[in-house]
Amino acid sequence: MNERRWVATCSRGLEEIVAAELSALGLAPAGHEIGGVGFLADLPGAVRACWRSRAATRVLAELASFPAPDEESLYRAVRALVAAPPAAPLSLSSLATPERSFAVSATSTRSRLRDTRWIALKTKDALVDAQRARWGRRANVDREAPDLALRIRLLEDRAALLLDLAGTPLDRRGYRLSTTVAPMREQLAAAALLASGWNGRGPVVDPMCGSGTLLAEAGAIALGLAPNRLRSEWAFDRLEPFRGLLRSVRAEPIPAPDPEVRLHGYDLEPTALTAAATNLEAAGLGRHTTLARGDAFEEPPPPGGPGLLAINPPYGERIAAPADQWRRLGDLLKQRYRGWKAVLIAGDPALGKQLGLRPTRRIPVWNGPVEARILILDLW
Ligand SMILES: C[S@@+](CC[C@H](N)C(=O)[O-])C[C@H]1O[C@@H](n2cnc3c(N)ncnc32)[C@H](O)[C@@H]1O
Repeated sequence: MNERRWVATCSRGLEEIVAAELSALGLAPAGHEIGGVGFLADLPGAVRACWRSRAATRVLAELASFPAPDEESLYRAVRALVAAPPAAPLSLSSLATPERSFAVSATSTRSRLRDTRWIALKTKDALVDAQRARWGRRANVDREAPDLALRIRLLEDRAALLLDLAGTPLDRRGYRLSTTVAPMREQLAAAALLASGWNGRGPVVDPMCGSGTLLAEAGAIALGLAPNRLRSEWAFDRLEPFRGLLRSVRAEPIPAPDPEVRLHGYDLEPTALTAAATNLEAAGLGRHTTLARGDAFEEPPPPGGPGLLAINPPYGERIAAPADQWRRLGDLLKQRYRGWKAVLIAGDPALGKQLGLRPTRRIPVWNGPVEARILILDLW
């Protein structure tokens, strides 16, 4: 099968990390955009990106692109795409049959058509009208688990019609059974760990572990576990051109740098520890984990180091953060973690400055609308 261009979407700021991850999976980068990384791959390559990428949010196939300066052009173009004789296996005319449920979402940037709900509705109307004309019946809309998760993206009056391969975002890992007050997104946790340059060998400690996301992602890296190993629903698996591909991609070995990795988590809140225990057990990492109630600033480093310290301290509106927390964290790292690597996710970019240590790398990242920072430190 020939290669084509796909886009792996991600949180703003994670583009370079996702591009590096895809390259490591043997997928050739093909241009960044804000919140997305293009790559060239055949169909098994795209399935590998879905199965193996820890930092991407979605993997999209571009089915078509056309001018859409107004509603009428959008409607006509989508109708024509469904009505066209089936060409490539990944074309709307071969995919959008009445038996396949679908959903449409839309985005719009610097375009005359701006109401994204209206754009999605018009696209849906065009699609079902064309189906009725072609087959005499139409497909159902299914917003929860559609066979075809379509996205229409308008940029400067040009529309791209995209197919979301997995159907739902790749951060639905399946291990987060219990949450705390401010859990971090799985991809952000994984991206921070990947960006740290950590070699995957433990021990790993998160002294403010909350619901355990950083430990769960670190454990999966060390043990060579696919990020979405617990997920059973993959929209592409229901599409003919992809049939059987997941099975062969799943059989590909993933490097496991530390099969005996130890994961240590502390938190002041018993409820956080209960959530972490539940989640790490669900992630298949219970055997590797030690969790204890403790104060981040008092607990000694775990045995077997140096290793990796990963931490996402409380911040801002969601949890009140003590004013001197970053200075104390800096002191802790300087005094007790010499030789370790550290990765900090700072909810408030200004706070990292109070650390009193110079990060090796500082990565601005947007956690939704909130600007955050990934700080990487080598503690010599
Ligand atoms: C932003 S949350 C961490 C969220 C976590 N990364 C997750 O994904 O669930 C910060 C956590 O730090 C804990 N915490 C705050 N101060 C602490 C301290 N001095 N020692 C240990 N834990 C602390 C809070 O109870 C909270 O669970």
